[in-house]
Amino acid sequence: MIHLDNKHFKLLQDKIYELSGIHIVDSKFAMIKNRVVKLMKDIHCDDVGGLLVMVDRDKKIAQDFINVFTTNKTDFFRESFHFDDLLDRVLPQLFKTQSRIKIYCCASSTGQEPYSIASTVAYAKKIYNASTQVEIIATDIDTQVLSIAKEGKYTINPLLEKWPKWAESETSEFFDVVDESNKVRHLSVKPKLKNMVSFRQLNLFNKKYPFNNEEFDVVFCRNILIYFTKPDQEAILQRLFALLRVGGTFYLGHSESLYDLADQTEKLGHKIFIRQR
Ligand SMILES: C[S@@+](CC[C@H](N)C(=O)[O-])C[C@H]1O[C@@H](n2cnc3c(N)ncnc32)[C@H](O)[C@@H]1O
Repeated sequence: MIHLDNKHFKLLQDKIYELSGIHIVDSKFAMIKNRVVKLMKDIHCDDVGGLLVMVDRDKKIAQDFINVFTTNKTDFFRESFHFDDLLDRVLPQLFKTQSRIKIYCCASSTGQEPYSIASTVAYAKKIYNASTQVEIIATDIDTQVLSIAKEGKYTINPLLEKWPKWAESETSEFFDVVDESNKVRHLSVKPKLKNMVSFRQLNLFNKKYPFNNEEFDVVFCRNILIYFTKPDQEAILQRLFALLRVGGTFYLGHSESLYDLADQTEKLGHKIFIRQR
């Protein structure tokens, strides 16, 4: 019988913070408990002290430990005004001025967000008759969600997940509709979108990111900062902001803030920011 109390939870909190920067608040203990117990059973470990030693010694167990603590909730076209802005303002401008566009999605979870970006790009290319090369780099710390994203197979309920009208009517352009029974839709991402997106693992808590300053025209940083403390959010934002070229667009999640960096941006509302300096 595995026993987990508040003292153990504090040890787990410290370890996940050290590995990922994720700040697990006390009220999440009950939610996390079952997941930790499952991991401990899987690796035949019955006390938290032993688990932490195994995490320190074994990279695979450390990764499984990180995967236990991530929250991966996501949807296609979540906060859809960002995709409207990409389609109506950002892409037509960039198609006119650039031969190559780079977009960064920094917490891509199971892939719905980067594939929504890729669908928007593919549709924009069609309606604006553009042949500009577009590359989307998508990263996450969680290896399990990255493998789901790479596979690109989804089950969606169109009644619960509202897509923009254009995306609804273009579904078969971007996805193979494998099955549409029982009110849910089984979709498989077509190579046309898959080829636009490359998935990699990246821990945003790392002090350095493997990209150049001003490498990206657009950065999506949505619903990820909320898992960090305010000082860590500010440090992550500084690193992400440096990757965005001056004039580029930064999309932030609805409950997140740019803090002092907002002074260096033009604010378009809906957490859409243009880097000014
Ligand atoms: C709630 S999901 C948000 C997904 C997507 N951006 C959206 O808005 O729908 C948060 C994601 O952040 C990832 N994450 C958590 N800590 C991270 C870290 N230190 N570095 C990179 N990704 C992290 C999680 O694995 C998870 O997939």
